[in-house]
Amino acid sequence: MEAFTFHNPTELIFGKNKTEALKTELPKYGNKVLLVYGGGSIKRTGLYDQVMGYLKEIGAQVTELAGVEPNPRLTTVHKGVELCRQNNIDIILAVGGGSVIDCSKAIAAGSKYDGDVWDILTRKAAVEAALPLAVVLTMAATGSEMNGGSVISNTETEEKLSFGSPFTYPVFSILDPQNTFSLPKDQTVYGMVDMMSHVLEHYFHLEENTPVQDGFCETLLRTVIETAPKLINDLENYELRESIMYVGTLALNGMVSMGFRGDWATHNIEHAVSAVYDIPHGGGLAILFPNWMKYNLHVKPERFKKLAVNVFGIEQAGKTDAQIGEEGINALRAFWTSIGAPSRLADYDIDDSKLDLMAEKTVKFGPFGNFAKLDKEDVLEIYRLSL
Ligand code: NZQ
Ligand code: ZN
Repeated sequence: MEAFTFHNPTELIFGKNKTEALKTELPKYGNKVLLVYGGGSIKRTGLYDQVMGYLKEIGAQVTELAGVEPNPRLTTVHKGVELCRQNNIDIILAVGGGSVIDCSKAIAAGSKYDGDVWDILTRKAAVEAALPLAVVLTMAATGSEMNGGSVISNTETEEKLSFGSPFTYPVFSILDPQNTFSLPKDQTVYGMVDMMSHVLEHYFHLEENTPVQDGFCETLLRTVIETAPKLINDLENYELRESIMYVGTLALNGMVSMGFRGDWATHNIEHAVSAVYDIPHGGGLAILFPNWMKYNLHVKPERFKKLAVNVFGIEQAGKTDAQIGEEGINALRAFWTSIGAPSRLADYDIDDSKLDLMAEKTVKFGPFGNFAKLDKEDVLEIYRLSL
């Protein structure tokens, strides 16, 4: 393993009816609250009324930012920064999925930065302070509820960039699986693909002696594989939602990835697709990840074999590591297809006309990927495999 320091400051409040914890936790950070939410799902489910009721009980002064888009936009972040400044906001409360949380993180950092928040995304400026952020999660997917990362889309430049900072971890996150009951089947599937992809990004590393981390990762993947087929036919099952919600958080809060650097190329390759075509992140990953795996199988076939055997139960007798690894990749594709995830860019009507433009975006900061270093030509090959 590499040497590491681990610190995750987010207080995780998990379980049935825990949304009420807002009443005791929020006042610790002040009285003026910016409530951030998406396109209206929380109004349909009643969660908005519930949260507003709690905020009223504690006498909070609430300013609202509604309408955060899936793949949240820079223009919405700008609106939020303006609202924080005008209303002297003490704490931001994000109620939603990854997009609402990411937008809120960028607002939190942007409102403590003198220039344009986009400077932080383009790595011209570093985050040096942020407003505190609290979360009520409504979708299990990104892990944004317990990490410092944020991904923002700039529709003018057709870029989707990310930043991460110790200042933008939520101070607390409330995870009641009941708040995910209303998530439709397609979004539920995208979320599960996303969390599995986070685990896979960790799993493909070049470090030696990581049996604990490998075991954690394999358990998370097996849990999704066992749970997903039941959940997609029983969307309001508490136990199934609970398992998936816990996997989503653990997959990207640092707990299973200490002591090595995961690959993370596929996320960059996907972000370029959703920057240009505005597709759901999990849908893009379902298409691209197995093709990244096929393209890089030769780098360390024994790693792919380990995944195939320990997660997908592939038989080993008489086969090479690469053959076993490839059967594992096919099993992953088959599993995602079986729960309804897309498998080709054509499923989103994406043809080859903008492959070059997208590939160019992935190398904005140079060649990338820690397990396999990729340049623009490599990315183009992976896109072509995905058409
Ligand atoms: O906007 P509303 O009306 O709330 O509807 C949302 C949205 O349309 C809906 N939804 C969420 N919870 C719901 C619900 N509908 C009914 N009932 C509920 N309980 O689901 C749709 C998708 O929501 P979104 O927040 O966009 O999904 P997700 O959580 O997958 O977030 C995706 C964004 O996160 C970024 C992605 O790139 C993408 O921009 N990521 C963030 C990461 C991070 N911060 O650590 C890591 C990830 O790898 C990822 O890149
Ligand atoms: Zn992701």
